Amino acid sequence: QYVWAHDQLTPQEEAGVHLQDRGYYFGDGIYEVIRLYDGKPFLWDEHFERFARSAAELDLPFPKPLEHIMQDMLTLIEANHVHNGIIYLQMTRGVQERNHLYSRDMIPVITAFTKEEDVPSHLQEEGITLWAVEDIRWLRCDIKTINLLGNVMAKRSAEDNGCHEALLHRGHTVTEGSSTNVFMVQNGVIYTHPADNYILKGITRQFIQKLCIEKGIPFEETAFTLEDLQDADELFIASTSHEIVPVNHVSGTMEKTLPSRSLTDQLQQSFQERKL
Ligand code: PDD
Repeated sequence: QYVWAHDQLTPQEEAGVHLQDRGYYFGDGIYEVIRLYDGKPFLWDEHFERFARSAAELDLPFPKPLEHIMQDMLTLIEANHVHNGIIYLQMTRGVQERNHLYSRDMIPVITAFTKEEDVPSHLQEEGITLWAVEDIRWLRCDIKTINLLGNVMAKRSAEDNGCHEALLHRGHTVTEGSSTNVFMVQNGVIYTHPADNYILKGITRQFIQKLCIEKGIPFEETAFTLEDLQDADELFIASTSHEIVPVNHVSGTMEKTLPSRSLTDQLQQSFQERKL
């Protein structure tokens, strides 16, 4: 198995990270997770567009043209013969003696690995439970930074309470999951939080929106509250690693059993037809 490190294909055992990398000290960096189906990357350009946006928002320059980075990642995927799995890539601001003030002459550090990983079809069939918990993250959740403590703590509390994923809410407004976007179905309409600074604009979310437009399913980028959720027909989560997974039950700061999953089933089916 190779990883991408030191600007080249590197055997995993030989890859090292500098102790003074700002990613290590400050979580000063960005990342993407991209799926591979049958060895082919899914929504490749979209992920790199978001990567470039995250970089720009954090004043992170690319150490080489983005097209070259994309080519490097394809080289890694080929070298590892990934079939069904993911590629994880991240870019930190680089190596500097610890100082909150970053200098602008550092060379950002890109690392990546691939992993063979099937889609969680058991979750997609059986559905999951969510743990509703206050969203305590910073106010730039639209940037895909490696600084993920709010997400990590929420995910742990979900697991500790017997749930698969967190349902984050700021006050009464539902934002997203710890690593997923969240969608509510009510009277045939799909609602999800607008893509502003409170959520990550998921690439899977974008793809679902496209599927809905094609199928004539009403898709509203309108935030919903915990109270709205009491009257929901269906709830589902979506991400690169999960695809679309139905929610059976929510507990935590609220309690709700979802009565249906017919529109979720329909979307899951379209997703499977269109993902290759
Ligand atoms: N998570 N919201 C958050 C907070 C996320 O971390 C993610 C992705 C998503 C869904 O985005 P996308 O559809 O582009 O995967 C929403 C990745 C997979 C992760 O951290 O592993």
